[in-house]
Amino acid sequence: MIRKCLFPVAGYGTRFLPATKSMPKEMLPVVNKPLVQYGVEEAIEAGMMNCAFVTGRGKRAIADHFDISYELEHQIAGSNKESLLDSIRDVINQGTFTMVRQREMLGLGHAVLTGESLIGSEPFGMLLSDDLCVNDAGPGVMTQLAKIYERFGCSVVAVQEVPMEEVHRYGVIDGQQLQDGLYRVESMVEKPAADNAPSNLAIIGRYILTPDIFDILRNTPPGAGGEVQITDALQTQAKNGSVLAYKFHGRRFDCGSVPGFVEATNFVFNNLFGTNT
Ligand code: G1P
Repeated sequence: MIRKCLFPVAGYGTRFLPATKSMPKEMLPVVNKPLVQYGVEEAIEAGMMNCAFVTGRGKRAIADHFDISYELEHQIAGSNKESLLDSIRDVINQGTFTMVRQREMLGLGHAVLTGESLIGSEPFGMLLSDDLCVNDAGPGVMTQLAKIYERFGCSVVAVQEVPMEEVHRYGVIDGQQLQDGLYRVESMVEKPAADNAPSNLAIIGRYILTPDIFDILRNTPPGAGGEVQITDALQTQAKNGSVLAYKFHGRRFDCGSVPGFVEATNFVFNNLFGTNT
């Protein structure tokens, strides 16, 4: 059973300026719930009750969100607005929340390595809350990955097919299909040009990582964009055949971009709002 989930939340969110000038991008609401809460709910559904945040300066609102606000609780106790706090109360009651600060933004791989002190030496989930995932027809994406981990005991990444002209925005895998939607990864490359991409199977922000990833990351030089990339560290694991890719069930919205964020907002408002809030 995987108990911990790492949330790298130190990024600047420049694509959403000026909204993100003094507010973490992870706190942007999709309808009435901050992006990061959707991610935490998905991790908790997967049994990952210990949520570990790699934060940065200007991100205190995230820590406050996952704590009790006594003044607010007192003000709305007994009023008809109280039910609006149900979802966050549930999350706070079930989970534990730990934080470490990433002092310099040296890449996603560096963020994961910064989280080592919170994770220790056990397998863990890693969730990028910019990617909002929903699955109306069954368990969430992190639960789907955790099931694969239970069977195979190695790192797992969630993938989806994207148009070739978009592969340059993602980590992309090359792999051998083991069964429908499940691949043994042979190689992976971060943000390839369309001509160099080994496939159109793009990694989205859901991972299960085995703890040897930390030692690998310590020895991984900066890659694409001059940053330490988690994709490069996973590539080292893939050489030993110990990374699987899973074409997840459900929908994913790229809330790191304005169009994806608007699409997610419309979807949540039309399909989920009022049913699970
Ligand atoms: C990161 C990863 C990339 C992955 C993507 C998913 O990129 O480096 O491999 O495909 O998340 O959202 P970023 O979006 O931080 O540039």
